[in-house]
Amino acid sequence: MYNITDANIYKEKSQQFLKNNIPIEYPFLKKIIQYHQYLYYVDNQPILSDMEFDKLFNYLLDLEKHNAGLITSDSPSQRIGTSLQSNFQETTPHLVPMLSLENSYNAEDLFDFERKIKENSNHTFIKYCVEAKYDGVSISLIYENDFLQRAVTRGDGNEGEDITQNIKQIKSIPLQIPLSQYGIKQIEIRGEVLYFKAAFNKFNEQLLAQQLPTLANPRNAVSGTLRLKDSKEVAKRNLNAFLYHISYIQYNLNQENIFPILTQQKSLELLYLLGFKTNYKELIVLNSMEEIITFIQKYELQRDTLPYEIDGLVIKVNDISLQEQLGMTSHHPRWAIAYKFKARQAITQIRTVEFQIGRTGAITPVAKLDPVNIGGVQVSSISIHNQDYIREKDLKIGDYVIIERAGDVIPQIVEVILEKRTGQEKLIEFPTNCENCGTLLSKEETEAVLRCNNPNCSSQVVERIIHFASKDAMDIQSLGEANVAKFFKLGFLKSLTDIYNLPYSEIEQIEGFGKKSVDKLKLAIEQSKQQPLHRIIYALGIRFIGETTAKVLAKHVNHLLDLKDFSIEQLQELEDIGIKTAQTLYNFFNIQDNIHLIESLEKIGLVLTNQFIKNGEQGNLKDKTFLFTGSLIQLKRSEAEEMVEANGGQILGSVSSKLNYLVVGEDAGSKLEKAKKINTIHIISEQ
Ligand code: IVH
Repeated sequence: MYNITDANIYKEKSQQFLKNNIPIEYPFLKKIIQYHQYLYYVDNQPILSDMEFDKLFNYLLDLEKHNAGLITSDSPSQRIGTSLQSNFQETTPHLVPMLSLENSYNAEDLFDFERKIKENSNHTFIKYCVEAKYDGVSISLIYENDFLQRAVTRGDGNEGEDITQNIKQIKSIPLQIPLSQYGIKQIEIRGEVLYFKAAFNKFNEQLLAQQLPTLANPRNAVSGTLRLKDSKEVAKRNLNAFLYHISYIQYNLNQENIFPILTQQKSLELLYLLGFKTNYKELIVLNSMEEIITFIQKYELQRDTLPYEIDGLVIKVNDISLQEQLGMTSHHPRWAIAYKFKARQAITQIRTVEFQIGRTGAITPVAKLDPVNIGGVQVSSISIHNQDYIREKDLKIGDYVIIERAGDVIPQIVEVILEKRTGQEKLIEFPTNCENCGTLLSKEETEAVLRCNNPNCSSQVVERIIHFASKDAMDIQSLGEANVAKFFKLGFLKSLTDIYNLPYSEIEQIEGFGKKSVDKLKLAIEQSKQQPLHRIIYALGIRFIGETTAKVLAKHVNHLLDLKDFSIEQLQELEDIGIKTAQTLYNFFNIQDNIHLIESLEKIGLVLTNQFIKNGEQGNLKDKTFLFTGSLIQLKRSEAEEMVEANGGQILGSVSSKLNYLVVGEDAGSKLEKAKKINTIHIISEQ
């Protein structure tokens, strides 16, 4: 925050410059620009037009160009990023461990929290500070002698990655703060990087315009952005950040403590005064759990009116000395708890039901809904799984239903609103024959799913091709759903092998394609020939064979066709392979057409031998097992897993005593909790 005297001087000087071209001295100019950035990014109340601001900023750049010796690290020009950061992978310890919060979901959990506080202290009357729980990515900032020194991700809680360069692109995070005015030498501050809904939607629109896949929610978008190696790109994304906690503070020697921080409310006030974006103005201090519960009920109703996503509230003991007395467990403070809001719900009507045919012939009924918005996401269709599910939920066409979306989770139907039935609702009838190829549909006794058992059914073929080219399989980027469907219709793609035989010159003539996009497609297809064996196995789309099982299989063979010689019993001996999977695999490798397909792929140039794991055989991680949980910041999950495997390690599917290392990303959940109970598992961070 700026005091009125300073603010008035900055305003006056900017006006004199903008109107009458009266020059400003460099140190002053930096402060003036910082002030306008504060008004724009922190306060949301700019007083200059974009053009006026640019004029000031260009003046600064010009001065710096002619006097390079002047430039200091807090200059607004220094936010400008670099394309490739050399220190990107460096890790750095937190001054104080970065803990997460325990979750609560109802009044009982909250009373429990208070009971424990009373048991662990001599206090009977406790005041709480209640704040928004921002749904973003947590960061830790260290400022020393008034300057931002570094910004670090949570990592494993003890050390995180240095993302200073990317964080400097967030304009609401000041590069310089008046710590010395408060007698402070060094401070470590915790907060959350966020995408405001409007900025996120704008970014998604840009992706859409470039025909790139859009991002599912603001939180994932932030996490991906902070991972970018090109900080210039980060600057374009308009991220934001709220700061909410001071984890460490060191005063200057012989300095009187001129701003005593006795409460959480006071620490937020200090952050606000230092120029951070905080919820100091909105925060509320309450005197009892009953008051908090009433507050939560009211607040939850308003959550969608906020310009950013929150997923709950955080309740903190206000008195810092009591906080210190309570201390922490190994994972979370005993003086704070997160209250998580319920999943968002909406009411809509089932218009009709369509039946989709999957790549393995499974028929999935999909309810087509009256489009409805749940927490910023438009939902217009929802899978209703199978006949058992429909019977259980008693779903009919024309029914009004409550649907729900929790965080990143796929929307679900909660229940039918029976009172809204008029008697006009229609039963959902499954077709007897495949709507695409006419084959009689069948159902295995043990299964709830109806299937079309014609492997040549064109709907299945298209789905198989889409799966083969998909990101986690052969990763042929230009061959997404739309193009596969188009090429299939045109007769260019009748089988998997046709992918490697596309008539490029004809494709170039199709509207929407040009030489450039065809070259890109060609390159992506050529590059896919080098994919490792486990990706090829997964890409074949065999039922029950997910990425993990594909890796297990790849590890046990020298060549893909070795799998032909495995008996059902031998297959079952491999890790994580049960009887159903073993049988399916055995059947797959005993169908001549499948063997022909594999042989053709090899002729085309795909590498079906197991080079990848071979390299790893002497690797440092040989005989070690790993599992990743939570969202990783620097690597994609699949990249991280491949790194482990390239060094001889193995990825497991679940936490058990066989697991050696659990690698923990942001907001890890039940797997982490489970692993903590098994002494032999090492819990480590992404770095
Ligand atoms: S306080 C030692 N306050 O939620 C206390 N955390 O699920 C540190 N979060 O790890 C946390 N809003 O990343 C705090 N107002 C808020 C928050 C908040 C969001 C995040 C934070 C935390 C996670 C726990």
